[in-house]
Amino acid sequence: MATASRPAVIAGNWKMHMTCAEARAFAQRFLPLINDLPGDRTIVLAPPFTALQTLSEALAGSPVALSSQNVHWEGHGAYTGEISPAMLLEHGVRYAIVGHSEPRKYFSESDEQINLRARAAQAAGLVPIVCVGESDEQREGGDTERVIRRQVEQGLQGLDPCQLVVAYEPIWAIGTGKTCAASEANRVCGLIRTWVGEPSLVVQYGGSVKPDNIDQIMAQSDIDGVLVGGASLDPEGFARIAGYQVAAPV
Ligand code: 13P
Repeated sequence: MATASRPAVIAGNWKMHMTCAEARAFAQRFLPLINDLPGDRTIVLAPPFTALQTLSEALAGSPVALSSQNVHWEGHGAYTGEISPAMLLEHGVRYAIVGHSEPRKYFSESDEQINLRARAAQAAGLVPIVCVGESDEQREGGDTERVIRRQVEQGLQGLDPCQLVVAYEPIWAIGTGKTCAASEANRVCGLIRTWVGEPSLVVQYGGSVKPDNIDQIMAQSDIDGVLVGGASLDPEGFARIAGYQVAAPV
């Protein structure tokens, strides 16, 4: 739940979806739908690198911020397929997703590499969105807390927790339609904040977030936002997520 010290961050991770033309069409439909959002939330979109410039132009003058889906720790050099912080800043990017479970799984990204990426992002003025999460097997084996704690301790080492977002994304809930129970997601997000030791750390939940479960997720005391995959590709659906409503505490 957003608080004065922890404004909500609602982010859409487009993964490997959206050409430039599709990104432009998305922005045209999405922006008029979010005209009247409350000021307690930041909306972020993370397109593929190729659509950053197009989306940056399409979002100009809007309250929507831009994120990359990765960032390298070196400023330049022989790193085929990678992108530097300065290259992202040139396109108006403000956030950088690192440590998502997909590069962890498909490209064997380690916590050490993720930490280097996040540190370089912060040093350049980008806010890293560092993803952590356990697999189905790890959860079934009672290993959730140990796994997340290791990812937090190694991945966040040396980072300024006030210029950081952590996304708790249980791997078994990503793209499966199986949302983690809101109370359990809340518990793990709270643990992450405790381990980091910074009460103002923004912690998101990610994994099958949809228009029909967003209000319940955002009502949780320790969840300050969401990282949305599939449902962020639909302008109307993502606008509903961005416009989540939480009943005022009585
Ligand atoms: P889904 O919302 O499609 O489950 O994806 C979550 C995710 O991986 C966001 O980074």
